[in-house]
Amino acid sequence: MPHAMRTELAGGQNAESAALSHPNPLLELSGIGKSFGAVRALDGMDLAIGPAEVVGLMGDNGAGKSTLTKVIAGNFRPSQGEIRLEGAPVAFDRPADARNAGIEVMYQDLAIAENLTAAANVFLGRELHRRFGPLRLLDHRAMNRRAAELFRELKSETRAEDTVREMSGGQRQAVAIARTRLAKSKLVLMDEPTAAISVRQVAEVLDLIRRLRDSGTAVVLISHRMPDVFAVCGRVVVMRRGRKVADKPIAASSPEEVTGLITGAIVAA
Ligand SMILES: Nc1ncnc2c1ncn2[C@@H]1O[C@H](COP(=O)(O)OP(=O)(O)OP(=O)(O)O)[C@@H](O)[C@H]1O
Ligand SMILES: [Mg+2]
Repeated sequence: MPHAMRTELAGGQNAESAALSHPNPLLELSGIGKSFGAVRALDGMDLAIGPAEVVGLMGDNGAGKSTLTKVIAGNFRPSQGEIRLEGAPVAFDRPADARNAGIEVMYQDLAIAENLTAAANVFLGRELHRRFGPLRLLDHRAMNRRAAELFRELKSETRAEDTVREMSGGQRQAVAIARTRLAKSKLVLMDEPTAAISVRQVAEVLDLIRRLRDSGTAVVLISHRMPDVFAVCGRVVVMRRGRKVADKPIAASSPEEVTGLITGAIVAA
């Protein structure tokens, strides 16, 4: 019995330390600061994300979650701190820089073009072309074919040639996820993807997050919804006033504890 207890303890410690300082982090942020005038949106924020890890990022309104996402995604440079991707320091000046490095963002509205087809959205900014004499034309047929393949891989019934305007939230998510598959993204940042959709669609999104993880993509899920975070995340990070106040394996926490950390009722050690 004492032996079994020791084993269990060691296992627990390993899980904890692996989560807190991943041996081979995909993305590592240290001492990130960002001010907007007098507002200190991020203040000495540290975060490490392992390959294919799903991390829940929680915190009250104004805690700095979206700002952190935007720093990682190249929307703006941090005022302080360092970002390393696969061990090498990076500085993104534009979202395209982050995207080229394998970091994709899904915003609250998924930033999908309503009037375009699913395939056109999947290829937005990465269109395929064909030559027609001296002309360079969009190769719709090739894009439709590749998009249809991606939807099949995602086990989604989304049709490549349908216009996004008529699509459900789950189908839109499939379009957004197909984009990340096409780009071979290493990390997907999701800023409240389940905030405004139906229960059935939430289940679809959570399922798609698991599929991203299983295909080797890391996901940061920003959410105010405790059940979503506890359903798909391996780790939860809580932010408060621009700082990280907790970072633990989801199995070592509880919705009650996380709620306390978010509101400040529980002060992390
Ligand atoms: N572009 C900006 N200009 C000025 N202040 C900003 C800007 N973006 C964010 N802030 C401020 O920075 C702080 C952090 O905001 P942020 O949007 O990161 O919070 P959040 O955790 O995403 O909140 P929510 O849960 O409401 O989405 C807030 O005080 C906010 O008002
Ligand atoms: Mg936000």
